[in-house]
Amino acid sequence: MATDPDDGPDDGPDDGPDDDYGGTFGDVYDDWYSLDFDDGATAVEVLARYGRDGDALELGVGTGRIAIPLAARGVAVHGVDTSPDMLRRLRAKPGAELVRTELADMADCDLGRRFALVYSVFNSLFCVPDQRRQTACFAVAARHLAGPGGRFVVDHQIPDAVGSGSSVRHLHTGPDRFRFSLVHCDPVSQIMERQTMVVENGGVTPYRSVIRYLWPSEMDLMAAAAGLTLEDRWPGWRGGTVRPDTRRCVSVYRPVAPGTP
Ligand SMILES: C[S@@+](CC[C@H](N)C(=O)[O-])C[C@H]1O[C@@H](n2cnc3c(N)ncnc32)[C@H](O)[C@@H]1O
Repeated sequence: MATDPDDGPDDGPDDGPDDDYGGTFGDVYDDWYSLDFDDGATAVEVLARYGRDGDALELGVGTGRIAIPLAARGVAVHGVDTSPDMLRRLRAKPGAELVRTELADMADCDLGRRFALVYSVFNSLFCVPDQRRQTACFAVAARHLAGPGGRFVVDHQIPDAVGSGSSVRHLHTGPDRFRFSLVHCDPVSQIMERQTMVVENGGVTPYRSVIRYLWPSEMDLMAAAAGLTLEDRWPGWRGGTVRPDTRRCVSVYRPVAPGTP
């Protein structure tokens, strides 16, 4: 995901354990991560183009940050999430009636129908901190695509500074709040544990998170195992060419044509 232009280096949403994301971040999520945070308005435009010929399915729909404006563009959006808290917050928002939600695991669900667009944005795939289950997410996406015209769009950060050991990262300094993270990274398992500390009103609130980051090349392999192949890759929603210093990646996968190796 994008680096916050105001807040200095940030790995993006502080992705919590996949079974308790909302319990950890629900209260602060919409405050920390607006649609503007990661060029979400452009994400909605791009996703609307892919979804215009049919319905869309978001894996890890959260509070509907992207799903609700996408549905307002006329795409029938469905969303799955394992956090009842995040889904409850989605349903409380104006426009939520346009989004169908299901409490379901993106690594193991079958909605029994197919979509023109399946998408996972803002590092949601990283919130499934297990390689086997991340691979299963690609199979779930492929299973829900409506034939050869269907597309799976994945948006995620490319982490920098993933050396082993611990580090401290500054995230935000504002007039009344300071936010930083203590990060512990294991480059072998690609598991990153983080304690985000919010210093506010003289108190400190910790938010613990665990993610497994993915490299684009590993994602391509997971996609191939699911019968998908890379069609496009950009360093953000506005397009362009991915370069060695690219810190964000939007990848578009399509089903492999029958008979193609
Ligand atoms: C970083 S948030 C992104 C939310 C939303 N996509 C957005 O752009 O704001 C990741 C979301 O993935 C959800 N999540 C984590 N593990 C999941 C899983 N195994 N299946 C479905 N959702 C999951 C979390 O509950 C959380 O709502």
